[in-house]
Amino acid sequence: MAASSLIIRPVRPDEHAQLGDLTVRVYADILGHHLGDYAEVLRDVAARAGACEVLVAVDGDGSGDDADGRARPLGGITYVPGPGPWAEVATRHEAELRMLVVDPAAQGRGVGAALVRACVERAAAAGKAGVCLVTTPSMVSAHRLYDRLGFVRRPERDRRLDDGLLLECYSLALPVPS
Ligand SMILES: CC(C)(COP(=O)(O)OP(=O)(O)OC[C@H]1O[C@@H](n2cnc3c(N)ncnc32)[C@H](O)[C@@H]1OP(=O)(O)O)[C@@H](O)C(=O)NCCC(=O)NCCS
Repeated sequence: MAASSLIIRPVRPDEHAQLGDLTVRVYADILGHHLGDYAEVLRDVAARAGACEVLVAVDGDGSGDDADGRARPLGGITYVPGPGPWAEVATRHEAELRMLVVDPAAQGRGVGAALVRACVERAAAAGKAGVCLVTTPSMVSAHRLYDRLGFVRRPERDRRLDDGLLLECYSLALPVPS
């Protein structure tokens, strides 16, 4: 699948379960025992889609469709428009990216980059000054992706959870609209 056949669009309600399952599966691999109750938050796509924008990547050429002809989400991301219950670190003028995930079978083809870019474009269109996110030390592929897209590591904005897991902050400044 070439990245050019990708479509990035809002998740549909009939895809919530699939995206929730995918997100839990991939995060369980990478977070191990730190996953805990967070699995249920990750699974509940409907909850975050009600307050944020949840985007999915699907194959535009139909090659990833299931037996019923429905496009299967290859990955997803949550665009949090600003501070609030869904944000970890966003300040007033920032949007935050959360729960980025790509099916392991579709990784390494630009899906993750396309999802992040779509959110950055939304933030720019909304007049945000920047975009931020938190990641964890084991998410090394994601770190390379953020570096490549121009995000900057912001250790002064890191947080540590009660179970000891370090949330590492990255941010991207957006051009001031003229
Ligand atoms: C992080 C993650 C979303 C990246 O998704 P992805 O679709 O594989 O991302 P991309 O394809 O854009 O980039 C991954 C690699 O493929 C390479 N790539 C992208 N398009 C390519 C292409 N057409 N041909 C060859 N390589 C390509 C990239 O250069 C990158 O290489 P690198 O890892 O050596 O730097 C995915 O690994 C994932 O789900 N990880 C687990 C969850 C996670 O860590 N989420 C982040 C939360 S903060």
